Amino acid sequence: MGKIIAIANQKGGVGKTTTTVNLAAALGVLEKKVLLIDADPQANATSGLGIDVESVENGTYQLLEHIVQAKEVVVKTNSPNLNLIPAHIDMVAIEIELVDKPNREYMMKEILAPIKDEYDYILIDCAPSLGLLTLNALVAADSVLIPIQCEYFALEGLGKLLNTIKSVQKIHNKDLDIEGLLLTMYDPRLRLSNQVVDEVRKHFQNMVFKTVIHRNIKLGEAPSFGESIIAYDATSQGAKNYISLANELLINHGKNTKTSVR
Ligand SMILES: Nc1ncnc2c1ncn2[C@@H]1O[C@H](COP(=O)(O)OP(=O)(O)O)[C@@H](O)[C@H]1O
Ligand SMILES: [Mg+2]
Repeated sequence: MGKIIAIANQKGGVGKTTTTVNLAAALGVLEKKVLLIDADPQANATSGLGIDVESVENGTYQLLEHIVQAKEVVVKTNSPNLNLIPAHIDMVAIEIELVDKPNREYMMKEILAPIKDEYDYILIDCAPSLGLLTLNALVAADSVLIPIQCEYFALEGLGKLLNTIKSVQKIHNKDLDIEGLLLTMYDPRLRLSNQVVDEVRKHFQNMVFKTVIHRNIKLGEAPSFGESIIAYDATSQGAKNYISLANELLINHGKNTKTSVR
């Protein structure tokens, strides 16, 4: 059965999109069938996978508005085993438009139900807010992966996010798990970076992924070529880190894994 993972943190710039795209690509390379849903009106995952956002006719927005069905909006990407539901520019309006709908927190869940089992993993790239779109992702998800930047104020806002997750568990989705906290943009030369790692591990212990994503300039470059880090430079630290994360996730799920690409 397909597993739905929301990648969420209401802070912007912490590595949500980078993680969603590259974890999805890594799982695809490890021969899992993966669907990425771009649920951020900024559409960075869509453009990062080489799709021209302006040319998107139907995407997550039309899906949530029930204008189209999931299988009509799924597009193939250049990355093996990775499909995408792109974001559409109009999605900016969705928070307002969904407000009056009955079941407004359950739209994403309803939409994914018919296609869930076609995939091993469905990853949802969330917007930097705790608005209705993110709430929909948390209600639809089996688990949530929380990227945390190894920077000043790393834990700022985390309490609020964890409270939101608790209330979703209480009201809408009792089975929602925390997949893990993922340390991103780690720079081993910086004392601060190391302090954040120590602090997060001390507080959250085995909730934190063993894999740490290092700061790697190639991860910043790849999206402008519309490629995952694995396609852009498979030998880079970034590619190694995301392959390692994918393997860790598969091991946590008790899935058979290959330890390397090819
Ligand atoms: N590990 C990393 N090393 C270097 N740059 C990174 C890394 N992770 C993300 N970035 C860059 O940092 C910026 C913010 O990352 P992004 O994934 O878009 O965050 P979010 O989706 O949480 O807003 C982007 O320009 C991205 O390319
Ligand atoms: Mg993003």
